[in-house]
Amino acid sequence: SRIDIRDETGSTNADAAEAARDGVAEGLVVVAEQQVAGRGRRDRQWRSPARAGLTLSMLLRPGVPDAERGWPAATPGTFGWLPLLAGVALAEAVTRVADVDAALKWPNDLLVGDRKCAGILAEMSGDAIVVGIGLNVSTRAEELPETTGVPATSLRLAGATSLDRDPLLRALLRAMERWYGGWRESGGDAEMCGLLGEYQRRCATIGRDVRVLLPGGGELTGEAATVDRDGQLVIRTVDGAEHRVSAGDVLHVR
Ligand code: BTN
Repeated sequence: SRIDIRDETGSTNADAAEAARDGVAEGLVVVAEQQVAGRGRRDRQWRSPARAGLTLSMLLRPGVPDAERGWPAATPGTFGWLPLLAGVALAEAVTRVADVDAALKWPNDLLVGDRKCAGILAEMSGDAIVVGIGLNVSTRAEELPETTGVPATSLRLAGATSLDRDPLLRALLRAMERWYGGWRESGGDAEMCGLLGEYQRRCATIGRDVRVLLPGGGELTGEAATVDRDGQLVIRTVDGAEHRVSAGDVLHVR
């Protein structure tokens, strides 16, 4: 991967999307020391004071789904496994380097001690996918990004042993290369490459009572039974019916 470090930029996601439009090959990583117009999910802003966080975007070109295998690389409006894959890589890196207990709230919020420590925003740019990661590292309480439904934290506030961003970045890119490579090699089969199992193991949502705010404005309440091989969250409602959700904001109720 080629790493492009910028002192200050608007949004690394916008930068990587622009590179994608210019035909830049996959593997580009744009890192910003300071991001002044960071984007979050659902039109939120992503606040990250200078040098307090790990703020980066990766340019990926997973290609079109294989019709024979039928794997869902990027069905319209969703990104298949990529954002979840990035979440697994991030959880792995944070656990290893900062020695905290990191888990994932479906689909890809990184939780440390039940608080959100990182967010991931995937966006399409033509046939490329940009995966942006914002990790709160040494961020102080009053400078945390706004979140909905779950309070925010940083590695500093969560008592991490190291707040050094370089080893975090290196571990993240290594984990990312391993999972992305394995997933590609398996033809995008999350079960075969071990990604599904690893995701399920790290997912704090499974087994919880949840409320899901659906993209269309609807809502679903029930127990999060599992995450299936397409990366969808399976919700069991009180009447015993199973619903599969491919996008939405999840609140852990209990
Ligand atoms: C969320 O709302 O949870 C997603 C936040 C994603 C923030 C990151 S920071 C790097 C990249 N560039 C952006 O503008 N957003 C993402």
